[in-house]
Order: sequence, then C-alpha cells, then structure tokens
Amino acid sequence: MVNSEIKEKLFESAKNTIENAYVPYSDFPLAAALLTKDGKIFTGVNIENAAFGSTMCAERTAVFKAVSEGYTEFEAMLLLTESKKPVTPCGACRQVINEFSKDIDIIMTTYDKQELIKKNKELLPGSFNKDDME
Ligand code: THU
Repeated sequence: MVNSEIKEKLFESAKNTIENAYVPYSDFPLAAALLTKDGKIFTGVNIENAAFGSTMCAERTAVFKAVSEGYTEFEAMLLLTESKKPVTPCGACRQVINEFSKDIDIIMTTYDKQELIKKNKELLPGSFNKDDME
C-alpha cells in the first residue's frame, strides 16, 4: 500500500480535478487519481454525453490518459466522490484496470475521508485475462 504522504497527494490531485467532471445528466461528479509505478499521477473525471452510453467514467479517463502517454504500470488509484459513502469502480473500469495492473490498490474515498481500500483483483475475481487468449 502507498504511504500516507502519497495517499494525500492522490487525494489532493483528485480534489483539484473533480470540478472538471462533466456531469449535466447525473450531477454525480467523480475524480480518479492514478499513480504509476514510477511516481507520476494522472487524473481523470467522468465525462457524460447526451447519448448516455457514450459517457466515460473517471477511472477509465485516467487510465487512458496514462496509457496514451506511455505509462502502463500502475501502483494505486484513488477514487473521490462527493457522496456520503465511497463508491466502487464499475465493472468496465475494473476490467480496464485489470489489463494493466492486477495488484493495484484502489482507494475509494469521500471528502471526509471515509475510506475503502481493495486490490483490483479482489474487486474483479475470475476476470478475463490476456493469458486466457493463448
Ligand atoms: N461513473 C464513474 O465515473 N465511474 C464508475 O466507476 C461508475 C460511474 C460515473 C458515470 C456517470 O457519469 C456517473 O458516474 C453516474 O453513473
């Protein structure tokens, strides 16, 4: 698990970016802060669309930003919500995270730091893997 100083950095990064969430339909902003193995942080927010199915989650926004910049190994992701209880990543986000780092710690947190921490592989048991394709 990341130390408390890094966790705080992830929290601040998510807090600074959550205002960029584009959520005119749900009014449910989320922000993710993704820590790469070499210490870089990529943030992401949910981006909704009038065609609801075209909405992108905060977690996948962060992963896709990182991968498109050449970073594919991850250590931790913090997911910040404005709701009272922490929220867990949706199935599609778990699968996308799993593609790159199964051991990643997912820190789900609220503004008042109610926290839930789980490994992505705990959140997605029995997942489909690249190795299954051999
Ligand atoms: N959402 C995420 O950003 N991540 C998740 O893991 C689940 C849901 C977003 C999608 C939509 O903008 C809003 O939360 C309500 O579903």
